[in-house]
Amino acid sequence: MAKITVDGTEYETQEGRTILQALDELGILMNGVDIPHYCWHPKLSIDGSCRLCQVEIEGVPKLQIACNTPIKDGMEIRTQTAPVKEAREGVMELLLVNHPLDCPICDQAGECKLQDYAFEYGVEHSRSREPRRAGKKNVDFGPTITFDQERCILCRRCVRFCREVPGTGEIGVFGRGDHSALETFPGLELDNPYSMNVADICPVGALTTKDFRFKIRVWFLEDVPGICTGCSKGCNVWLGTANNKVYRYVPRRNDAVNETWVCDDGRMSYRHIGSADRLDRAMVRGELGVLEVTSVDDAVAAASERLRALVDAKGPGVVGAVASGHGTNEDLEAFVRLLDGLGVENRGLATVQGESDELLVQAEKAANGEGARKLGFGDAAGVLDRLNTGGLEALVVMGHDLLDAQHLGGIEGLERLDTLIVLDSHHSALERVAHVVLPARHAAEKAGHFTNHEGIVQAVAPAVEPAGEAVPEAEAFDRLAAALGVAGEDAA
Ligand code: SF4
Ligand code: SF4
Ligand code: FES
Repeated sequence: MAKITVDGTEYETQEGRTILQALDELGILMNGVDIPHYCWHPKLSIDGSCRLCQVEIEGVPKLQIACNTPIKDGMEIRTQTAPVKEAREGVMELLLVNHPLDCPICDQAGECKLQDYAFEYGVEHSRSREPRRAGKKNVDFGPTITFDQERCILCRRCVRFCREVPGTGEIGVFGRGDHSALETFPGLELDNPYSMNVADICPVGALTTKDFRFKIRVWFLEDVPGICTGCSKGCNVWLGTANNKVYRYVPRRNDAVNETWVCDDGRMSYRHIGSADRLDRAMVRGELGVLEVTSVDDAVAAASERLRALVDAKGPGVVGAVASGHGTNEDLEAFVRLLDGLGVENRGLATVQGESDELLVQAEKAANGEGARKLGFGDAAGVLDRLNTGGLEALVVMGHDLLDAQHLGGIEGLERLDTLIVLDSHHSALERVAHVVLPARHAAEKAGHFTNHEGIVQAVAPAVEPAGEAVPEAEAFDRLAAALGVAGEDAA
C-alpha cells in the first residue's frame, strides 16, 4: 500500500498504479478529485497523448500527466493550482482550434466531454483567425457506426478498444501532424460484435451509432439502471427512457460483470421492449376454437378451471411445467409455489443456446437460467419426453423458448394437450395451440432479481410502464394459485 496526498487530503492506495488508476480505484476520479482526461480509459492501455490530465507533484519541476505517472508512497499531488489550470486551458484551446461549431447539430451534445471540459476548463475566446481545417463528414465506418472526422480529437480510445478488447483492430490513425486522421484499414469495415462500444468511449461526437443518431436529444432521456437480458451474462446497462419508451441501452460499469462494455446484439435487444409483437392482452380459446381477448382475471379463472378439473380427475401427474430463463427469481419462486401447491413434479427449464465468445457473450440466451436451476428446474427434456409419449394432458409454459429446435422444434407435440397455459411477453406460435394466454412483463417493466451464469444476483426495477395489461409472471402465478386454492403462506 502507498499513502498519497491529493489537494491536501491523504488517501491510501495500492502500489503499482498510476495516479488516475489509483483515484479511479478509490472511486474519487471526477467524483471529488477532478482531473479531466480524454485519452485515458480505465479499461484500455495508456496512450498519454491528449495531455489534459497534467497535475503538479511536489518536488517535480514540471507538470506530469496523471494517467501515466506511477504513484509513490508519500507523493503529494495538486490538481487545482494556477499552472495546472493554465495547462488545461492550453490543451483545450488547441483542441478547439479546428473543432467545428457543430454543437447545435451534433448528436453527442449534452453528453460530450469536449463541451463539458470547454465549459469547465476552456478559454472564453478563440484567438485563431485562420479557417478551421475541414474534414470528412458522415463517413460510413460499417453497419453500426458513422464517423465525423472534423470532430475527432485523436485520443485513439477507439483504436485501442478495437485492438485490445475484441482484438479486431479495424481502425487506426493514419498520416502525421495535422494530417493525422482516423480511418478504417483499407478493405475493412468496423463490424466486430462489440463495435458500438466505440461510440460510448469516444469523448466527442466523432463516432455515433447509426441506431441512436438523431432519435432524441439526450437531455430528454432519463437513464434508468437495468441489465441486458440477451444472455446469461447479465451485462449492466443504462436504459435511456423518455415518453414511456426505451430509446437505447448503453453500458453501465460493473467490474465484476461486464467491465464497461456490452455486445452489439445485447445493446440492440432494447428493441424487444416496445416491439410490435408484444403480447399485451390476455386471451382464452372460446367455443369457436379461436383465442379471444379477455381480462387477466377471466384468463386466470379459465386457467384455474381447466387445471382444477384435470388434477381432480387424473391427479397432478398429467400436468407439466416449463420455466423460462427470462423470468426473475421472484417469478420463478412463484411458479415453484404454484407447482408445489398443485403437487406437479414434471417441471423443467427451456432456454435457447447460441454463440458465445471469450469476452462477454454466453451461450445461454436468457438472463436467468441459473436462477431457475437454483430453484430446482432441471432441463426440460424430461417434461418434453413425457409430453411426446402422451403422458401429459396439461402444460403450463413460461415464454416460448421451448419452441427452439433443441427442445420441441414445433407445436405438433402440444396439439393433443387438453390444456396449454402460456405466459409470455411476446406473441409466438404457441398461441396457435394454447388455451389460455397471459401477457407477461419484460424485465424493463418489473422489479425483481436475475442470477447470472456466475451466480451474481442483480436487481432490476421498472424503467417503463408495462405493455397493455401485462403482469409480472409472479403475480399471474400467485393469482392462479389463489384461484386454485393452493396459495401457500408465502404467496402474495
Ligand atoms: S473517433 Fe473519438 S475515440 Fe476515436 S480517436 Fe477520434 S475522438 Fe478519440
Ligand atoms: S453479453 Fe449478453 S448480457 Fe451482455 S450485452 Fe451481450 S447479450 Fe447482453
Ligand atoms: S488522459 Fe493523460 S494524456 Fe490523455
